[in-house]
Amino acid sequence: MAPILEIADLKERARRRVPKMFFDYADSGSWTESTYQANESDYDQITLRQRVAVDMTNRSLEATMIGQPVSMPLALAPVGFCGMQWADGEILAAQAAEAFGVPFTLSTMSICSIEDVAENTKKPFWFQLYVMRDRDFVGNLIDRAKAAGCAALVLTLDLQILGQRHKDLRNGLSAPPKFTPHHLWQIGTCPSWCLAMAKTKRRTFRNIVGHAKGVGDLSSLSSWTAEQFDPTLSWADVEWIKERWGGPVILKGILDAEDAQMAAKTGADAIIVSNHGGRQLDGAPSSIRSLPAIIDAVGDKIEIHIDGGIRSGQDILKALCLGATSTYVGRPYLYGLGTAGKAGVARMFEILKTELDITMALCGERDVKNLGRQNLHAAFGEKI
Ligand code: FNR
Repeated sequence: MAPILEIADLKERARRRVPKMFFDYADSGSWTESTYQANESDYDQITLRQRVAVDMTNRSLEATMIGQPVSMPLALAPVGFCGMQWADGEILAAQAAEAFGVPFTLSTMSICSIEDVAENTKKPFWFQLYVMRDRDFVGNLIDRAKAAGCAALVLTLDLQILGQRHKDLRNGLSAPPKFTPHHLWQIGTCPSWCLAMAKTKRRTFRNIVGHAKGVGDLSSLSSWTAEQFDPTLSWADVEWIKERWGGPVILKGILDAEDAQMAAKTGADAIIVSNHGGRQLDGAPSSIRSLPAIIDAVGDKIEIHIDGGIRSGQDILKALCLGATSTYVGRPYLYGLGTAGKAGVARMFEILKTELDITMALCGERDVKNLGRQNLHAAFGEKI
């Protein structure tokens, strides 16, 4: 079998192993997918400054994220339905992240629950919160994350209303889901996926089912979720959530400098420059293109993280050079999970780490903390 050398190799393997509707769920963006595509392609608009004859020995990728030590400035972004790529995907991804020394963020919309992941990991992970209309449910979820020892709350702000994804609608992944014999055929043609699935009993969205009022199974869950994302979410809610949680908070889904200023005023520990991986506002700029204005606005006030379109260590390096202090990946670890479960996520980490390390050396730097605009040749058509 051909070796797995880059993230694109993991993507191709996952495409072949995971039933089409679940692979498409990971691979989709909203409407025309222009923002999804720009997230990736805009990294090509940044060129690096090559340096020679500098000492490239003793390199370090170690850093901190909101004061917590990490083996490199990278975390796993929250991803719903994670366990659909590989049974118990949330637990396996959390274990791979723990072994690699970076944070895993569990989504509200995960199949394994906060408690499932806590029972199967040794170190604290992070929990991502969606604000639902039912504030008792939200308060209870925050308390459960606290009880499980989660080390940060990632509060997602860019999904008050759901962007439309054509692939999901065509595949019948709507609320309620419309499954046909064609889906059974799709699943039937993926025997190794079925085999892994058959080994787990965790098949419902365990953060929600059995906890939200009137949600006892998958079909009541899907209509509940569709109605529950809260279009009235405001900065006052952010204050309330921050207070109820009482620990480190990261605000996710900031793409605009004015919003970044509002976010910094809340006293949150970090923001994630993100457009939800191009799954919400199609036509919005890519995350990397949005980063410089946000750094100018609040770079000295709050830690700035970024996600969206990162597919290599070179992309991570470019984001760090433009001023982000840390990065996240979403789809790349889903492709890892879809390929080989925990081993696939571990492979993804190795690929990104090696690429970042060697690229940093070729830029003439030895410590990831020293990367900056001085390592860039040009960005978005402007010479640096
Ligand atoms: C997401 N994302 C996401 N974000 C969030 O806050 N809560 C969630 O439940 C989800 N669910 C989700 C599912 C899938 C399939 C994808 C691809 C993404 C967004 C995610 O956290 C992150 O912002 C993007 O994935 C980053 O872009 P890349 O790395 O996937 O390009």
